[in-house]
Amino acid sequence: MTSPPFGLVRKKDYGNVDAHEYVEWFKPFGAAFRSALKPAGSLVIDIGGSWIPGQPTRSLYHYELLIMLCHEFGFHLAQEFFWWNPARLPTPAEWVTVRRIRVKDAINCIWWLSPTPWPKASNRRVLQPYSDSMRVLLAKGYKPMLRPSGHDISDRFGTDNGAAIPPNLLALAHTESNSAYIRFCKEKGLTPHPARFPSEIPEFFIRMLTDPDDLVVDPFAGSCATGEAAEKARRRWICCDLVPDYLEGALGRFQRKAGERYSAPVKSAKASEDAFYRAYRPGLMWNGVEEDALPKDGGAKRPPALKPNVSKPPEQCAVTPGSAQMALLEESTPYRVGRRKRAKARRLKEGKNG
Ligand SMILES: C[S@@+](CC[C@H](N)C(=O)[O-])C[C@H]1O[C@@H](n2cnc3c(N)ncnc32)[C@H](O)[C@@H]1O
Repeated sequence: MTSPPFGLVRKKDYGNVDAHEYVEWFKPFGAAFRSALKPAGSLVIDIGGSWIPGQPTRSLYHYELLIMLCHEFGFHLAQEFFWWNPARLPTPAEWVTVRRIRVKDAINCIWWLSPTPWPKASNRRVLQPYSDSMRVLLAKGYKPMLRPSGHDISDRFGTDNGAAIPPNLLALAHTESNSAYIRFCKEKGLTPHPARFPSEIPEFFIRMLTDPDDLVVDPFAGSCATGEAAEKARRRWICCDLVPDYLEGALGRFQRKAGERYSAPVKSAKASEDAFYRAYRPGLMWNGVEEDALPKDGGAKRPPALKPNVSKPPEQCAVTPGSAQMALLEESTPYRVGRRKRAKARRLKEGKNG
């Protein structure tokens, strides 16, 4: 289970590889992973996409990586997952907030690969609560029928199995700002790792794909979120990284007293606000009215700064406590907007920015 350095344009402190060299750079790791894995084992790679420098189009490097690992090293793609981080900032600002020609990139790809088509796995380990509509359906009873798509849904669909099978979309806001790990780094004067994933991501795959006492390895471990998840799930684990300070900080994840165990998450959390995220249906704010013409040059010429559009959302978008959750999450993101940016936003709001 790992999240290697991404092929980034704007590089992090620990140094990233250029997207166009990425696949070659990764090959020795691919060979090592293939030879180390047991036949029923899995290789899970969390990898973010990247933009081509200077233009609003995407690099294909993470897809090329996937294809290379399957074609050259004989991995099978067991399934692709997508991690949606609802708290992701709208970047790159030039394409997303200035020219308004792309949307927020809020997804990481997670490639679940295996050396055989039959890695050990069970979705029963990662069930989630039924949605409200599924509960109603289960309570009222389900009438078997042929769906418009041609799917013949049997009466077994109406069986209450206690919980739902999750989709391959993992929704998880990355807003950690006050964890034991962060506090430990502060105490020790260490900079927290700049590109962590929440430990719930490795935890999902570790529980679904391994048994207690199996060995979990994260070769690009950073702050050892994988180690923390493996420890919780009582798997054996090895984490390594090139930067000693990251591993020094990672010790903060393992400061329990002797004999103290990780407790299971509180079950009632499934009813709480941060147990799920709302994703709006596309088109919810469109009321059928023609909008301004699209820029014929695709946004190649930078538009003059406009006053912010503060049109009121239509009636059906009334903000309920539930739907306010997304906005709150975005506000609570740990990444601070710089003073200059805040001042500019204030000027824009006051209409002083031309
Ligand atoms: C995306 S970060 C991983 C973050 C980690 N998942 C976490 O939650 O903290 C990638 C890490 O790979 C490390 N790294 C880069 N090249 C490496 C190499 N050749 N061997 C081991 N680690 C390496 C970097 O120092 C960085 O910490």
